[in-house]
Parts: sequence; C-alpha cells; structure tokens
Amino acid sequence: MPSAVTETSLAGIPVRRGKVRDIYDLGDRLLLISTDRISAFDWVLPTPIPDKGRVLTQISAFWFARLDTDNHLLSLNLDEVDLPSGTDRESLEGRSMVVRKCEVVPIECVVRGYLDGSGWKEYQQNGCVCGVPLPAGLQQGAQLDPPIFTPATKEETGHDINISFDQMVQIIGAETAQELAQRSVDLYRSGAEQALREGIIIADTKFEWGWFNGRLVLIDEVLTPDSSRFWPADQYKPGGNQASFDKQFVRDYLVTTQWDRNSTPPELPEDIVRQTRAKYIEAHDRLTGQPFAWK
Ligand SMILES: Nc1ncnc2c1ncn2[C@@H]1O[C@H](COP(=O)(O)OP(=O)(O)O)[C@@H](O)[C@H]1O
Ligand SMILES: [Mg+2]
Repeated sequence: MPSAVTETSLAGIPVRRGKVRDIYDLGDRLLLISTDRISAFDWVLPTPIPDKGRVLTQISAFWFARLDTDNHLLSLNLDEVDLPSGTDRESLEGRSMVVRKCEVVPIECVVRGYLDGSGWKEYQQNGCVCGVPLPAGLQQGAQLDPPIFTPATKEETGHDINISFDQMVQIIGAETAQELAQRSVDLYRSGAEQALREGIIIADTKFEWGWFNGRLVLIDEVLTPDSSRFWPADQYKPGGNQASFDKQFVRDYLVTTQWDRNSTPPELPEDIVRQTRAKYIEAHDRLTGQPFAWK
C-alpha cells in the first residue's frame, strides 16, 4: 500500500484543519488539501486510509466538471500556488484544489432520495424528516420520490442538527433558503441519475454553498462517498442496512470493537484499511469510468 498523508504543513501559509481537509489561506483564494484522515461517528480515527484524499478530490473534480452550476473550483494544478521551498509536492498532488474563498452559508444542504441514517431514525419517531411528513409504512432504505430537502446546521463539534426549512429561513432568510433548496435538489437529481447509470445509488448527500461576488456558488466536496451514501445498485434491497462504498465498512468494524464512541477511537487493522481503500477506489472507477489516477 502507498504511504498515507495524515497532516500537511506549508511553512508560512495560515492553515485551518477540518476533520479531513487542511485549508490554507492564500489571501484571495484557498488551497484545500484532502488528507487521508477518515472520520467515523464524528471522531477522526488514528489510522488513515492511503489515497483516500486523492480519490475524494478526483470524484469532486469529476462532478464539478459535470454538474452545471457555479462552483468554487479554480484549479487542480499546484503550479498555480507559491509553495514554500522544500515542499514535498508529490505528496500533495491529486489531493489539492485551489478554490475561490467564499463566505460559507452556515447550513448543510442535505438531500435524500432514500430513507436511511438520521432521516430513518427521525421517521421512526414521528413519521417526518426535518418537518417533511412522509407516507406511513416506509422501510429503512426505501426510495423517496421525489427526493426531499432536509437541512442541518453546521456544528463546530459533534453532530450536525437536523432543522426544518422554516428554521433554515430564520437563519439565512427566505430568498437564500429557497434558492439553495431548489439548487440542491436539482443537483442531487442530476448527479443521482448519472451515478445510477454506472450502477451506483447515491442515497443521500450534503452540499455546502458559499457567497462569492454576490452569488451563491457550490463549495466544499461534491457527491463523494464522504458527503453521501453510495450504494451498489445491484445489491439494493430495502428493509435494512445496504452494502455501501462509503465508510459504512469502517463503521461496521468499529461496532465490533469495545470502543464506546466517547473516547479516542481504536486503530484500524490493516485488512480493514486495505478493503476500505479498495472500496473508495472502486466507487471512483465505477462512477468516472476511469481507473483511479491523478496525473
Ligand atoms: N470555497 C470555500 N470557501 C470557504 N470555505 C470553504 C470552501 N470550501 C470548503 N470550505 C470549508 O472548508 C472546510 C473543509 O474541511 P473539512 O475537513 O471537510 O471540514 P469539516 O470537519 O468542517 O467537515 C469546511 O469547513 C468547509 O465549509
Ligand atoms: Mg467536511
């Protein structure tokens, strides 16, 4: 297996670290570097997945090119950035994006075309997801047609909190809320339709948006197995957990351990790392129709 990039450092460039990405402030632009860190149950695990950051970057780049909407991507080419001398450029290639620096809209724009995760939990309690009433008797993993828009707050620590559309309006105003709901649902439909042709169900996803020059542009990562649930369509069977290309595999492993989810998570064994890496790469290859590469 190739070696993993767990954390990057570029001397002299201000950095902020998310759970997965290192975000460098280039002044008018940002350099987003996807590391190989993996999070599960809101914890960053001590074991990285080699090349995961590259796979996710290449998948987002694929969608930015395919989806017809204003977005933040300027370049995947590191030559556009003045890197400090001595930088190990090779390790950053394929995982870096130069993007427009935007004012982030503080809402996670979640769209669900299938009922699972926090949506499934809420539905079992009250028959709704984020205030959207759904038909009675749906099974876990049931398709939702039309897809529903179920926003959440962006929390600095811990779980994002599902909110109603009216609460979203309170936070960002009716006009912005309406535009983002509409554009998010349209993008999900378009992406899910394209992915399904390659045998992947995108069950749900989360978009982020930002203001740039008075316009709302798509930011962050897009329709990746980290921001979405990716299911192999040929194994889809509602009524339980689905096989998946995302980190469900890692979650499934973690629940077999003694870990209480309230303390530092355990290391992942090598075969779990290997299989998880293979799943991310398979998702990439199926979706894009190209073998995983970054040059
Ligand atoms: N174009 C952009 N302008 C400003 N912030 C952005 C842009 N694209 C992504 N971001 C922010 O960068 C961060 C990406 O790092 P990530 O590891 O995903 O963080 P998190 O732990 O918050 O999910 C997110 O906080 C996201 O909102
Ligand atoms: Mg994120």
